[in-house]
Amino acid sequence: MTDCILYNESCITGTRSHLKENSVDLIITDPPYGIKGDTLHKHYNRDESHVVDGYVEIPEDEYGRFSIDWICEAERILKPGGSMYIVSGYSNLYHILHALRQTSLVEINHIIWKYNFGVWTSRKFISSHYHILFYEKPGGRRTFNLEARFGAEEKSGDNGSLNYQDREDVWMINREYKPGQVKNKNELPVQLLAKMILYSSNEGDLVCDLFLGGGSTARTAIGLNRRAVGFEVSPAIYSVRAPDIMNLKPGFLIDEQRVPECSAPKRQRERWTAESRSDLLHRYEELKSQGLKKGEIVERLMEDLGRGRWSIIKALKAIAEEV
Ligand SMILES: C[S@@+](CC[C@H](N)C(=O)[O-])C[C@H]1O[C@@H](n2cnc3c(N)ncnc32)[C@H](O)[C@@H]1O
Repeated sequence: MTDCILYNESCITGTRSHLKENSVDLIITDPPYGIKGDTLHKHYNRDESHVVDGYVEIPEDEYGRFSIDWICEAERILKPGGSMYIVSGYSNLYHILHALRQTSLVEINHIIWKYNFGVWTSRKFISSHYHILFYEKPGGRRTFNLEARFGAEEKSGDNGSLNYQDREDVWMINREYKPGQVKNKNELPVQLLAKMILYSSNEGDLVCDLFLGGGSTARTAIGLNRRAVGFEVSPAIYSVRAPDIMNLKPGFLIDEQRVPECSAPKRQRERWTAESRSDLLHRYEELKSQGLKKGEIVERLMEDLGRGRWSIIKALKAIAEEV
């Protein structure tokens, strides 16, 4: 069954009623831009006939206060070590950066998302990027799956590192062209969302979107076997997509993902000795006492000990059977 709850409520009051402090692993969100929703189509220069009505905009003079309110909630619900990606245009970027600076959240990267659906202009350069602010809540170990999409040794045709290229902070990902399909005003592409989700969370983690719109974050999270929660204040927008998303089959996007060719663990073929097993048990108990879940502990041990997942799980099982 899908582990997903989407609320038709403002994220500011909704998070306070429904989400506990330190409960979310990853936030990916795309707040309203504060640039007059009614004229958004002029910015995108496109046919609006299949775009769902009901987008709730924030008046420009309220945008600063609004940003502080929701970003403080985001800080509260994120787990220590949890990550947040905020997608923002440039018009009100300074309000979002200002709000972030009122919190304990720490900047990891300022990513530029370059896309091919630019605004048409005749007397200035054409805008074709968004900002993606990647932050973390300090106090825990942040998930960053280094080989989420490309193994460290994988090369492109000209011998460049595919892993390096994928982790540069300018992302070129096209918007999805969906002629004739019902869509939200600014739907984010699955490829963009999958990249953030795969690098910054693990299966079973809870992913939250505070401004669901068409629900693309929740949909992608479920498709990648994560749990999802989110908020959309507009009843019109919520009713078009949210009920179906809550019934999606978990993991439906997994088969479409590229499987990275990961480098072999450093100590893959080494036998477990009495000493290395005792070290394993000691580290396991230590991480458990820090409140980590079993899956997180195994990930940490793989990295710290240079061993594969099954090798660690089997060794732990053997130790438990001996005791
Ligand atoms: C930029 S859109 C999100 C688009 C979304 N990323 C997608 O892929 O469809 C912002 C959404 O936030 C909603 N919104 C505005 N104020 C809100 C609030 N206080 N709480 C929750 N949603 C809100 C708007 O109605 C709009 O649908």
